[in-house]
Amino acid sequence: MTIKQKGRFITFEGIDGAGKSTHIQFVSEMLKLAGIDNIITREPGGTPLGEQLRDILLHQEMSVATEALLMFAARQEHLEQKILPALRQGIWVISDRFADASFAYQGAGKQFSWSKLEQLENWVLEGFQPDLTLLFDLPAKLAEERRSGTHEPDKFELEKSGFFLRARAGYLKRAETHPERFRIIDSSQTIPIIQRQIAGIIQPMIDASR
Ligand code: TMP
Repeated sequence: MTIKQKGRFITFEGIDGAGKSTHIQFVSEMLKLAGIDNIITREPGGTPLGEQLRDILLHQEMSVATEALLMFAARQEHLEQKILPALRQGIWVISDRFADASFAYQGAGKQFSWSKLEQLENWVLEGFQPDLTLLFDLPAKLAEERRSGTHEPDKFELEKSGFFLRARAGYLKRAETHPERFRIIDSSQTIPIIQRQIAGIIQPMIDASR
């Protein structure tokens, strides 16, 4: 797969309750104000088949290997049908989660083989990576408090707190191995402070794209 991209690919990551969703709209608006066409998408999901897989993944029990394979199957579809076509047209793509989530959740959280995940990543992404990954980082305990009572929990949100401790560490490990694209946001700060920080990261990308 030769990927000639004109748009930029920005991913949002963090354990459930870390507050990433609040800031996705902010980035989209910021790009729009700068005259940059952009779409918001999510994983698992983002395509008709991906959304069907999401429904299965979030609500049915299965082995962690099956889960990892289905996550990457949905990702393959997402990449081919939505992400790459948009980028080729110069449209920026903002995704609520991407491959790092598989390392954090299936890899670190459920202790599935990191190297098998790397094989899946190499197979499906063929070296393609986000231009920027904003990691919303929050201690697992705080994230749990923020999650509680907001909505009906899905399969992952019902995991014990040890799972989220490991998933957080998994994200930080990915950030360490991909420092060129990861920016870690301390999610315990107030929304205005976080947004100022995000603006300080996105504005140079906008300037560089002109
Ligand atoms: P969301 O609630 O942020 O949309 O994400 C759906 C859930 O799916 C969330 O608990 C994280 C989980 N997930 C994985 O376990 N592996 C993955 O590769 C992805 C993309 C999400």
